[in-house]
Amino acid sequence: MLSEIPIQIENVEFKNIDKEIMRAAMIAELDAINLYEQMADLTDDEDIKEVLLDIAREEKIHVAMFETVLLQVDEEFLKVYSDYSLARSRD
Ligand SMILES: [Fe+2]
Repeated sequence: MLSEIPIQIENVEFKNIDKEIMRAAMIAELDAINLYEQMADLTDDEDIKEVLLDIAREEKIHVAMFETVLLQVDEEFLKVYSDYSLARSRD
């Protein structure tokens, strides 16, 4: 699990800082989802499993929140995302 920003923030151009922050935040949330789901698979305690899977679901919401912001600050990503979604919807 991430406890530090996985980029050299001082090397990032100012215009890209928000994009880098959103991507790092998404990586941390995705990592947390994996961790909680893996721990849920390890336990036989149904209460612990339920708590872990509930928190994993909350982390998925956090991914969506960060991704929404990233799409607002990264126009290229928004275009790629839109084009890919359109192409997939035609399949
Ligand atoms: Fe989170």
